[in-house]
Amino acid sequence: MNRPAELDDIQGLVRFAYGHLKQASFVMLRVKDQKQEAARAWLAKLPVTSAIDANPPPPQALQVALTCEGLQALGVGDDILQGFSLEFVAGMAGDDNRSRRLGDVGDSAPAAWQWGAANKMPHVLLMLYAEPSGMAAWRQKVVRGATACFQILSDLETTDMDGREPFGFVDGISQPKLDWQRRRATQDQELEEYAELSCLGEFLLGYPNEYGLYTDRPLLDPQGAAADLPRAEDVPEKADLGRNGSYLVFRQLHQDVAGFWQYLDRQAGGDAQLRTRLAETVVGRTLDGKPLVPSEGLNGFDYRGDPDGLRCPVGAHIRRANPRNGDIPAGKPGLLGWLLRTLGFDAKAREQDLIASTRFHRLLRRGREYGEAIPLDQALADRKAEAGLHFICLNANIARQFEFVQSAWLTGTRFGGLDREGDPLLGDRSPDLNGAATDHYSMPQAFGACQRLEGLPRFINVEGGAYFFLPGIRALRYLVTAT
Ligand code: HEM
Repeated sequence: MNRPAELDDIQGLVRFAYGHLKQASFVMLRVKDQKQEAARAWLAKLPVTSAIDANPPPPQALQVALTCEGLQALGVGDDILQGFSLEFVAGMAGDDNRSRRLGDVGDSAPAAWQWGAANKMPHVLLMLYAEPSGMAAWRQKVVRGATACFQILSDLETTDMDGREPFGFVDGISQPKLDWQRRRATQDQELEEYAELSCLGEFLLGYPNEYGLYTDRPLLDPQGAAADLPRAEDVPEKADLGRNGSYLVFRQLHQDVAGFWQYLDRQAGGDAQLRTRLAETVVGRTLDGKPLVPSEGLNGFDYRGDPDGLRCPVGAHIRRANPRNGDIPAGKPGLLGWLLRTLGFDAKAREQDLIASTRFHRLLRRGREYGEAIPLDQALADRKAEAGLHFICLNANIARQFEFVQSAWLTGTRFGGLDREGDPLLGDRSPDLNGAATDHYSMPQAFGACQRLEGLPRFINVEGGAYFFLPGIRALRYLVTAT
């Protein structure tokens, strides 16, 4: 019998996007020299909001996450740090190879980031959510006293753009649904049907994931204060420091709104309808969020009826970010064809191997927009303004989820059998290893040659980023009081 999920110990962001709290502030702190004890005491008192149901929903919320450097600065020992995943310990900007795979090159390289690299690495992330009228008071209450022991490294504001991201598309439509009741079978079986439901262990440590396995995390002897931590389900003699926690990926993504619309306008020869159609083909949804393939509602679809990408190009942003039924590559119909493709004897299927089973690569997105919403006519008139997305996602395995999606599916230039092209929104546009250009976007046509957008500029640049641990509430207390 599965133990129910401990909602009172899970930070609320795992369950709720806090969409009713229109304003968010992300405050990044660094522990001041010689202030470790004071910083720990300050963190121990924070009123962290849990995932428990509240009716009415809370008028404000606070979430707390820590980087590996943060845990170190707070005095957490190596014996515990070694229990976290390698990517978390290395950090998003930890080595050049990782940066290259994530597309963090050129102007988006960590050396140019506003935060997240070298001595601008945050230790603690405070995520504050409130109604606009209540934010100042909430912030004052939470952040009071922080400057005695912390330096405020970054104070990132957000903007409510009414459910749209700065290019103007409705965002946040497709999300995995977490199996809070723990009813989903957790076996690595052949699941052909695309489903929204994900095992808790894909997003929370300490629960079985889609392979039926528990992701590695720090397990401790249940002595002293560790006795108050939840016991590990898979190793009951151990206290589970990871249980009810998640990894939080944060990237500050600057969007060149004027550049995006002006480029598409040039490609459309100034034709407004065509310009919109091209933009929608790039994303894979209309501006209002409707998918380009037939769908029940906004999210009841997969790409089986469109194997060649005639309606929604294979390289469109949402098709890359979640290929849905992509684990069965396109090819000849029938049982024999299916077997050949699935067993890997089909050349085209082998080529498309990068589209692995999507259920192992889901992300729970919790981002917020920032800057100024720029109306289309002003973007076309070259009005430059700061705007972008504080991209935030939760996952239990950074390498298999965020890094795989970002590198193989979005930055990768051979996704889905495509020939040297990256994600039209997020590709890094750098030439491939043979020096060939990757800055184009293919839009297959039912009749005639495939249409291509050429010379796509980089519309989205990375201006900061880090991997955080969003601990369970008991684990947070343990980390700042007992270690
Ligand atoms: C500024 C950068 C970005 C913009 C403007 C953007 C825009 C969008 C839009 C408009 C949608 C469709 C609405 C929806 O389904 O929610 C979408 C979906 C999605 N995006 Fe992005 N996105 C950005 C960055 C990223 C990044 C960095 C990732 C992952 C590493 C990502 C992963 C996804 C996923 C998983 C979906 C849902 C796909 C589906 O399930 O159909 N996005 N994005």
